[in-house]
Amino acid sequence: MSFNLHNRSLLALKDFAPDDIRFLLDLAAELKRSKEVGNELPRLKGKNIVLIFEKPSTRTRCAFEVAVHDQGGHVTYLDAAGSQLGHKESLKDTARVLGRYYDGIEYRGFHQSVVEELARFAKVPVWNGLTDEAHPTQILADLMTMQEFGEKPLHDLSFCYLGDASFNMGSSLLVGGTQMGMDVRICSPAALQPPPELVAQMRELARSTGARITLETDPLKAVVGADFLYTDVWVSMGEDESVWQQRIKQLLPYQVTSTLMQATGKPRTRFMHCLPAFHSLDTEVGREVHAKYGLSEIEVTDEVFESDASIVFTQAENRMHTIKALLVATLG
Ligand code: CP
Ligand code: NVA
Repeated sequence: MSFNLHNRSLLALKDFAPDDIRFLLDLAAELKRSKEVGNELPRLKGKNIVLIFEKPSTRTRCAFEVAVHDQGGHVTYLDAAGSQLGHKESLKDTARVLGRYYDGIEYRGFHQSVVEELARFAKVPVWNGLTDEAHPTQILADLMTMQEFGEKPLHDLSFCYLGDASFNMGSSLLVGGTQMGMDVRICSPAALQPPPELVAQMRELARSTGARITLETDPLKAVVGADFLYTDVWVSMGEDESVWQQRIKQLLPYQVTSTLMQATGKPRTRFMHCLPAFHSLDTEVGREVHAKYGLSEIEVTDEVFESDASIVFTQAENRMHTIKALLVATLG
């Protein structure tokens, strides 16, 4: 067990050193195998964990719940409507109360400063389950999935993230890819690139990890040679619906299509997405966007999403194994 990770919070991926991440990925692979063969040891017996969600979730919530259950612990789920958080009680007070009941706290919400404040006052590990700025547990699953499908060490693999790179996913993939020494391409219009200070920090970090970082506005150039094409929704949770019109205008050239998959020049390029995805008219939002703007597939075409190249459901499964590794390493 890594001594370094015991009792540690994960607020953003840059809190962890590359070796910490490698340790978690190895542990996640071991836990995945144990679950498959049915010899998992419960290392969270007697541990109580609270999950706070100020934004909705399917994967993150369920991954935490199943991971804790598999490991013999217990969870409580709190949402914004069903608790005093923010409305009648300050976060600082809530943190000090929850820290006395629970061994660890997962938090999903808006500003990164909130999860940081929670960690400052709770005195137990806090894990960021998504903020506007970062989605670190997602990146652990993404790296695990790239490792599984890439058939090479991560530092020999390349991925290209296309779309809105100014929000949580673009920034977090830039950080995770840089920490692992990967060939990282971020492809978006200039107005939707990751924050310049983060890019500067990552360019500095790349000097020691060996990562190659490319910021590119032209998708056809950015994807050449990429092992993975990755995209996310064009309008994130918490953003105003009015943003759709402009985003569609800005991001339509970045839609992941079969033509773009072929433009990598690699026959085995895989498609990745953190999910949920708008690739058909099977969602309410998808139908609304279609009615207003005439677009029936948004950030990825249905053809790519449903193709053999798509590894999105293994990615989603790996959320659970990596979150379990994080919990076992920080609490177990
Ligand atoms: N990828 C992800 O975080 O999914 P949820 O919003 O369903 O948790
Ligand atoms: N950028 C997306 C990620 C969802 C997992 C959002 O914040 O809504």
